[in-house]
Amino acid sequence: MRNNIQLPERVDLARCPTPFQLLTRASKRWGAGRRIWVKRDDLTGTTLTGNKVRKLEFFAAYAKARGIDTLITCGGLQSNHARATAAVCAQLGWHCELVLRGKTAEPSGNTLLDKLFGADIQVVEAPHYQRHLVELLEQTAERHRLLGRNPLIIPTGGSNGIGIWGYIAAARELLTDFSNQGITDAAVVTATGSGGTQAGLTLGMDMASANIDVIGIAVSDDSTWFNKKVIDDIEEARKQWPDLPALRRNPITIDDFVGPGYGRAGTEIYALIAELAALEGVVLDPVYTGKAFYGMLELIKNNQIGAHQDIVFVHTGGIFGLFPHHQQLAGLLEF
Ligand SMILES: Cc1ncc(COP(=O)(O)O)c(C=O)c1O
Repeated sequence: MRNNIQLPERVDLARCPTPFQLLTRASKRWGAGRRIWVKRDDLTGTTLTGNKVRKLEFFAAYAKARGIDTLITCGGLQSNHARATAAVCAQLGWHCELVLRGKTAEPSGNTLLDKLFGADIQVVEAPHYQRHLVELLEQTAERHRLLGRNPLIIPTGGSNGIGIWGYIAAARELLTDFSNQGITDAAVVTATGSGGTQAGLTLGMDMASANIDVIGIAVSDDSTWFNKKVIDDIEEARKQWPDLPALRRNPITIDDFVGPGYGRAGTEIYALIAELAALEGVVLDPVYTGKAFYGMLELIKNNQIGAHQDIVFVHTGGIFGLFPHHQQLAGLLEF
């Protein structure tokens, strides 16, 4: 059976299963008669918080099996994925080098944690980063090889044919949550930044033949790019694990809520972060989850989320990315 495919080896790093909670007050406020649930993947660990550690469990096992002792990855200066990779390396006693896009590494949020975990950081200005990322990563790996190390390059966001397993596994966990709550059809909404979370969830639900729509709310790039990326990650995984089936449905990415651009948010996002935190004790971030939650509420309001009674928000973490935005939030709160 499609859903019985054995998962590859993983290193136990994430605190799973994560809680599955009904947001009663948020449902009343924004649900228009539907129930809004949250899958608390922000609780996968204190410093490992978020979706990335689910992917890293599979990267770590892949690396262990090959005698890897150094992880190299990349992302924006405040990358949650880079921070989670640095944390995993510190936990496993491995070296870590991060190639981060930006001007200078500020000692706040994720970058502060990267440094605390002992990761080396290379900061590369955006135009050079965009043009030369592949060479930069390869040169970094070569430098570690010359030091006698055995490095593995993990792509942006941990999204590829290995990382995808994190959210194929998470889809199975969600299906158990659904069956515990008697949910048989639903829309699952996630922030999409590099596509791997959406890819894993989409394939995982498709493999289970579940009547569950998976909707990715893009925080950068457009839906054409992400819909292709979802398929590409799945096809890359299928080359290595031929038992993995092809996707039978079309990926669903909504790109209407990117706002002013990646890492920048409009005032409506900060206002929502403040309102939800006070209403439910759930904290979103302005880069990923704030935009995705906002997008989900707009889809509900405009009746664009199908006939599902249950709407499930996958909270993918990102809290450390909130702190560098303290000024925008302080304007909304009275101190
Ligand atoms: C907090 C948070 N949520 C969502 C995402 C998006 O996940 P993905 O990169 O798998 O699309 C990321 C990373 O990009 C993230 O850091």
